[in-house]
Amino acid sequence: MGIRTIEWKNNRIRMIDQTLLPGEFKYIDIKNIKVLWQAIKELKVRGAPALGASACLGVYLGIKDSKAKDYAQFYKELKSVVNYLASSRPTARNLFWGLERMLCVSDKAKHLSVEKIKKTLFQEANKVIEEDRASCRRIGAYGASLVKKNERILTICNTGILATIDYGTALGVIYKSHEQGKNIKVFACETRPLLQGARLTTWELKRSGIDVTLICDSMAASLMKSGSVDKVIVGADRIALNGDTANKIGTYSLAVLAKYHKIPFYAAAPFSTFDLDIKTGMDILIEERSHEEVSSLFFKNQVTAKGIKFWNPAFDVTPNNLITAIITDRGIIKPLYKLNIEKYADK
Ligand code: MRU
Repeated sequence: MGIRTIEWKNNRIRMIDQTLLPGEFKYIDIKNIKVLWQAIKELKVRGAPALGASACLGVYLGIKDSKAKDYAQFYKELKSVVNYLASSRPTARNLFWGLERMLCVSDKAKHLSVEKIKKTLFQEANKVIEEDRASCRRIGAYGASLVKKNERILTICNTGILATIDYGTALGVIYKSHEQGKNIKVFACETRPLLQGARLTTWELKRSGIDVTLICDSMAASLMKSGSVDKVIVGADRIALNGDTANKIGTYSLAVLAKYHKIPFYAAAPFSTFDLDIKTGMDILIEERSHEEVSSLFFKNQVTAKGIKFWNPAFDVTPNNLITAIITDRGIIKPLYKLNIEKYADK
């Protein structure tokens, strides 16, 4: 712990540049929304909850110098900032949840002066940050109640401090279990093509003193067959009303493998990741990214012949019937998902 992925500091957004890790730990200052948009696109900041916080701080960054004379003019500027940030990455629900929340707060404050509305938006962005810190800790506590002593947990991508403000979702469960002295061991999938598991998860867990072993994504089946995995716990980018869960590409394969090997498979996410307007995972828009991510090793060494074709979806959807339970900040949701998600949504 002890670090913050993203925050408001010195009148700008300060974030850890995750593309430099683990080689270099560096904060960068974001002074305008064009730079923020690029930072999101290039995954300098990434992970669904961290994108939610980026969206909220980004809205404030985009309107803080507005000279609008009335609400109509201010709203026009606000909407254009929101639409711009919404075009950065399509899959993580939290980004859109954050933008919608800021719009809603502005609307409720429209009777106030423009300066006061700006102040309200600033307070809201900081509230979202504090809520994320608390919600990850609740996910951690609920999830840790499922983890027994000495268990070996397989995970993918990065769902920890770096994907949130300062704790994590799936890794929040791991941090909490570790704090409870459960002597857990973690297997981290490298997470091709951009290696969030290899670069970020192992870095995070090692600095927290948690036993972590890196595997290539293709090793998961053999690892499970060898009897070395007790649980799979992953994060989520968007969860549909029926529990279908979009997460980093490769998650679906882990879920299929877990089912075959009779290993419980959990997704962990705050309620801000649920999209109750989407009935099933079929309706989740999956981001496709540039072929350079696949044709090279983290943009450095070209590993393919020139002129070949690529397919590079950043996420996949795990169908609800492969998910043992969803660990949320409101409790652990079990099947029947639609019924139970609706119940928890009202809590
Ligand atoms: O492309 P990324 O690195 O933003 O993808 C992130 C993931 O898929 C995470 O597993 C997910 O956002 C959960 S983060 C707590």
